[in-house]
Amino acid sequence: MIQIPAFLNGEYMPVAECRVSPLDRGFLFGDAVYELIPVYNRKAFCMSQHLARLARSVEQVHIQNPYTPTQWAAIIEKLIQQSDDEDLAVYIQVTRGVAKRDHIFPENVNPTVFAMANPMARVAGEELQNGVELITVKDIRWQRCDIKVTGLLANILAKQEAIQSSAYEAILIRDGFALEGSASNLFVVRNGTVYTHPEDNLVLPGVTRDFILGLLNELEVEFREQAIPEEWLYSANELWVTSSAREILAATKIDKRVVGKGVPGELWKDVHALYQKSIA
Ligand code: PDD
Repeated sequence: MIQIPAFLNGEYMPVAECRVSPLDRGFLFGDAVYELIPVYNRKAFCMSQHLARLARSVEQVHIQNPYTPTQWAAIIEKLIQQSDDEDLAVYIQVTRGVAKRDHIFPENVNPTVFAMANPMARVAGEELQNGVELITVKDIRWQRCDIKVTGLLANILAKQEAIQSSAYEAILIRDGFALEGSASNLFVVRNGTVYTHPEDNLVLPGVTRDFILGLLNELEVEFREQAIPEEWLYSANELWVTSSAREILAATKIDKRVVGKGVPGELWKDVHALYQKSIA
């Protein structure tokens, strides 16, 4: 078995040796937040943006941030050093800690801090050539999707529905609007303009989303952050889904209907190429 280097409450050890109490509130309540940072050629990508989002996540759920950005960066660096792989996904989780089961916040309890560095397979081949398939599902999540909480059951059910339909990702629909994927942000290209849902309580403020908006600026492509009517999905010229782990993927089918010309679009090619350049 490959050894996944991990960090638990101040100590480094293989993930298989990590032990967390069943009374941990992350386990009992999903009282926890997380972050996922991609590493390319042993260098963390957009680390400060990920650490800023982590700081916001803990703050929003009233957990004291256990580390400064410098300390977090040192933990990430050490996990990278202990890994054999060049490309990694560093996962960080902070829970409210271990206490007798009670909904009320426990007093004088330290947060549980867990991190691990998993090998990350780069997107390649078929997914780039042919694009991916999407389905739409009803968004049954709570109303604070802007916080990166570990309670992802609704996301997991949506993703599994996609997999069962031989699709890659499920696009979440709420009140007639397409918000984001189960584990990705959504971009819609329509008559030369790129649309993505604004940063509000209904979507995760994706680090990749933000990075892509910067690339669109560079490419002088017009974009708008606005709510996307569900019907637009079926008349879009291009659909993209973005995430730290899977970068930017073009969708060529949605609900079994062909998107645009049925191949990854021209604009996607430009943005994808620039994204690859940024990574390099
Ligand atoms: N998920 N929206 C949701 C609901 C997500 O779970 C994610 C990422 C994104 C994209 O965010 P970013 O570009 O910052 O990765 C949007 C991660 C990868 C995960 O849960 O593993």
